[in-house]
Amino acid sequence: MEGTSSQKPLDILILAAGLGTRMRSNIAKVLHVLDGRPLINHVCRTASALGPRKIYVVVGHQGEDVIKAVGSELDEESVEFVWQKEQLGTGDAVNAARDFLENEDSTLLVLSGDVPMIRAETLAGLIQQHYDHRGRGAECTILTVKLPDPTGYGRIMRDDGGLFERIVEQKDATDAEKEISEINSGIYCFDTRKLFDALSLIENNNAQGEYYLTDVPKILRNAGGDISLFNYTDSREVSGINNRAELAELERVVRRRTVTKLMLDYGVSFVDPKNVYISEQAKIGRDTLIYPNVSIEGECEIGDGCTIRSGTRIADSQIGHGVEVLDNSLITEAVVGNSCKIGPFAHIRPKTRLEEGAKIGNYVEVKNSTIGRNSKANHLTYLGDATIGENSNIGAGTITCNYDGVNKHKTTIGSRVKIGSDTMLVAPVEVGDGAVTGAGSVVTKNVPPNKLAVGAPARAIKNVQREDSTDETGR
Ligand code: UD1
Ligand code: MG
Repeated sequence: MEGTSSQKPLDILILAAGLGTRMRSNIAKVLHVLDGRPLINHVCRTASALGPRKIYVVVGHQGEDVIKAVGSELDEESVEFVWQKEQLGTGDAVNAARDFLENEDSTLLVLSGDVPMIRAETLAGLIQQHYDHRGRGAECTILTVKLPDPTGYGRIMRDDGGLFERIVEQKDATDAEKEISEINSGIYCFDTRKLFDALSLIENNNAQGEYYLTDVPKILRNAGGDISLFNYTDSREVSGINNRAELAELERVVRRRTVTKLMLDYGVSFVDPKNVYISEQAKIGRDTLIYPNVSIEGECEIGDGCTIRSGTRIADSQIGHGVEVLDNSLITEAVVGNSCKIGPFAHIRPKTRLEEGAKIGNYVEVKNSTIGRNSKANHLTYLGDATIGENSNIGAGTITCNYDGVNKHKTTIGSRVKIGSDTMLVAPVEVGDGAVTGAGSVVTKNVPPNKLAVGAPARAIKNVQREDSTDETGR
């Protein structure tokens, strides 16, 4: 708006020092997890999307752990941690940042670490209103919302003219005040200097014996400052999490929102949309069909036309197109090519790469291994630290003995190899292209290409001829 005087630089302060008594937990509240990430990380990501000069995070309870969690979300340079030694209330928490901020001619957006669903677009609207208020900007703008059940929140008291008067906390409210449905979201914009001036004046003579940040707007108003109320309509976004029931409810809301978006915008099918857990960060392609009780966690990418059967969990993995994952499989930090088949009961561990058309069957565990195109390990096998070429077949019960008790060693298997059932491959070892091992062999030495090796320990005994076929079943 033309004539606005107060487009000051923006800093953000996030309150995250409280224990959260009502969680009945030994873990600080902001470290509890929503949609697979700590609450504080949700708030930090949103804050960072607003492009502030700096984000200040007030820490106290389990501060080291909170710092670590924030570190996984924000660059070191963009964030400053402020310690609040004793948790004396939200006003005291902001005051802990006094040395950093009191002389800044800036706008300070205050967020709560326990209000995780707030969107950057909403905050941008709040900030804009703060700047635009009466053409000259407000000293404080409060994000408020009307709730059918406002229990637990601070209530917004307006004067006869509908202007802001004060905030009264639930525990200090009279019965009449408790009837007010407009609540304080705990999200505010302040003129930074005015905020710290007023903070010097707050007292703790209230029901909780705490220093309330919510007393600041009243002090500013009584000194003649403009307080603006940004009345917002989506109550979900400003839901504070104070106990586990509220956390579970928000989890349900996030989950439903994600699944609905995947169905309507991305063409993903769910047999039972209420009984899946899909991370908001997951990308899933068209015509992929997901059965009940599937979890897709973290940053996953799943292609078009896949089928994911019940009981499967996929975390931080990339899955190509047309992949079939049968029941009760676990896939973590893996890359799966197009048209692969996995499971049932397969365990695909980190740093596994399955190339196009590979098949990993029941009770097969794969770790830190590359399985080449159309190669198969169909039954009861462990493949660790292995590289397997194309069109090879790993018989039932095969084990790469990769660990000698001290070090891990690599197994290299070529293309068109047939590993007989129950072969022990004692790493480090190589099996050349087109070679065959007999059932029950213990391979301690490299098997040259096109040789048949048998026995325990196995010896290479004669030449063999393997066809370049892809129709091995491995049975
Ligand atoms: C606060 C507001 C209330 C508002 C509600 C919205 C106050 C006094 N009340 O109440 O008006 O409706 O949020 O969700 O501000 N924290 C600290 N240090 C402390 C105390 C709290 O860092 O000493 C942090 C907490 O970790 C939390 C946030 O501040 O992230 C809010 O504290 P909480 O105790 O949840 O306040 P509410 O009772 O929810
Ligand atoms: Mg709260």
